[in-house]
Amino acid sequence: MLDGLRQHPPIKLGILASGSGSNFEAIAQAIADQHLNAHIQVVVYNNPGAKAADRAAKFGIPAVLHNHRDYAQREDLDRAIIQTFQDYDATWLIMAGWMRRVTQVLIDAFPQRCLNIHPSLLPSFPGTHAVEQALAAGVAIAGCTVHRVELKVDSGPIIMQAAVPILPGDSADTLHPRVQVQEHRLYPAAIALTAWQNLQHGHKI
Ligand code: GRF
Repeated sequence: MLDGLRQHPPIKLGILASGSGSNFEAIAQAIADQHLNAHIQVVVYNNPGAKAADRAAKFGIPAVLHNHRDYAQREDLDRAIIQTFQDYDATWLIMAGWMRRVTQVLIDAFPQRCLNIHPSLLPSFPGTHAVEQALAAGVAIAGCTVHRVELKVDSGPIIMQAAVPILPGDSADTLHPRVQVQEHRLYPAAIALTAWQNLQHGHKI
C-alpha cells in the first residue's frame, strides 16, 4: 500500500487543531520519517495561544488563526477555513483535536478527503468527554477511532481503530495519555489507508 502511494505526488494536508496539537505533530513526524507520503500545507487553529501553533513553527509549517469568536455563524468560520486551505493549496481536511462543530459547507469542500480522530471506540462514546464516559460505563477496553467526517458529530465511516485496555485504578488523567500514544500511531496510518481506498475507488487523492 505505501509503495503504491509513493508513486503519487505527496497528498496535500490541511490540519484543524484547537489545542495541544499532539496528533498534528505525530502526522508531521510521520511525514518527516517518510512513513506517510504527504505534505502539511497549513494548520488552522481557533484558540489564540494554542500549542499547535508552536508545534507548527517547530516544523516550519504555516499556522493561521481563525478565532471562532470573530464569526457570527458556524458557516462563516467554515468558509474562512476553506479560503485559507485554498490559499495554501490544501486538498485534505484533517481534524486533529478540532473542538468546533463543522457544517456541511466544510465537509462538501473536501469530498472523500475529510477525516477526524476521536478518543473512543466509536460508535461508543461520541462527544467531548469520551474518555470519562468510557470509565464511567465500566468498559474494559477503551481506544481511538479515525473516521471519515459526516455532519453528525463523531459519526461517519470508520477507517481504523486501536484498542487500549483500561487498567485498575485508571482515571482520565492516566487513560487519555495511553489512548493518545495509540492515536499518534493510528492517524498517519489511517490517512495513508484513506488515500489508498480513494485510489481504489477512482477518487482524487
Ligand atoms: C485527541 O484525543 C483527539 O482524539 C480528540 O482531541 C484530542 C486532541 O489532542 N479529538 P491533540 O490536540 O492532538 O493533542
